[in-house]
Amino acid sequence: MGEIRPLIFKDHRNREIWIRSAEPEDAKGVIRYTKDQQDRFEYMISRSWEVNLDVKYEKEYIEAHTQGQNAVMILALHGERVVGLTNFIGGMKQRISHDGEVGISVASDYQGAGIGRCMMEAFLSWASENPTLKRVTLHVMGNNLRAIALYRSLGFVVEGRRRGAVVFETGRVEDLIMMGLILEKGRDLIERNGKKWTDAKES
Ligand SMILES: CC(C)(COP(=O)(O)OP(=O)(O)OC[C@H]1O[C@@H](n2cnc3c(N)ncnc32)[C@H](O)[C@@H]1OP(=O)(O)O)[C@@H](O)C(=O)NCCC(=O)NCCS
Repeated sequence: MGEIRPLIFKDHRNREIWIRSAEPEDAKGVIRYTKDQQDRFEYMISRSWEVNLDVKYEKEYIEAHTQGQNAVMILALHGERVVGLTNFIGGMKQRISHDGEVGISVASDYQGAGIGRCMMEAFLSWASENPTLKRVTLHVMGNNLRAIALYRSLGFVVEGRRRGAVVFETGRVEDLIMMGLILEKGRDLIERNGKKWTDAKES
């Protein structure tokens, strides 16, 4: 089932951030986050008007992640506010069910404070314990240096480049880089960085 162990950590600006799986009750918070943030992200493909922002739909979408064998949605929360989101859906067909695509974003006023790394580490710890999954794929724009640095540091390698795959409203063109990671079973990144994180149950 798509659920991570909840974690609490202090970000680089000493804010207490919760990292946990999304629940259907989070639908409104996720929608608020998307409405507020989506169009600020230069490096994201979806624009806010292309995302379904209906509460019933969002609840079902979150539920599909919670119940799926190879899917998970992870939130970063500061108090009640959603400040980051990581989303993974594995292949729907049996032959590709061991792979899937991860997407991540952090609210613009929370970026660069360690939250993206924490969410990715929580996600990869979950993925490496998942019996179905063997690898993770992602796509990133070629000029998104911060994200590429993060993914490389976690072990992702470049597997391909889709030249001119993104065309902005201004006519600017960017490549999309495909990166992949072969999962090491039992690779608990949270454990490795144990000093930084607190298991929410222990707090
Ligand atoms: C990309 C993103 C998810 C990273 O999350 P974040 O919370 O800002 O990143 P972190 O603070 O955890 O930093 C992670 C790593 O990024 C790199 N990094 C951070 N700031 C950087 C900068 N200004 N330039 C280059 N690399 C940088 C570092 O390698 C850092 O690793 P460290 O922990 O060793 O310092 C976030 O910036 C974001 O949402 N950006 C907009 C949306 C987006 O681009 N999503 C990804 C689409 S593929």
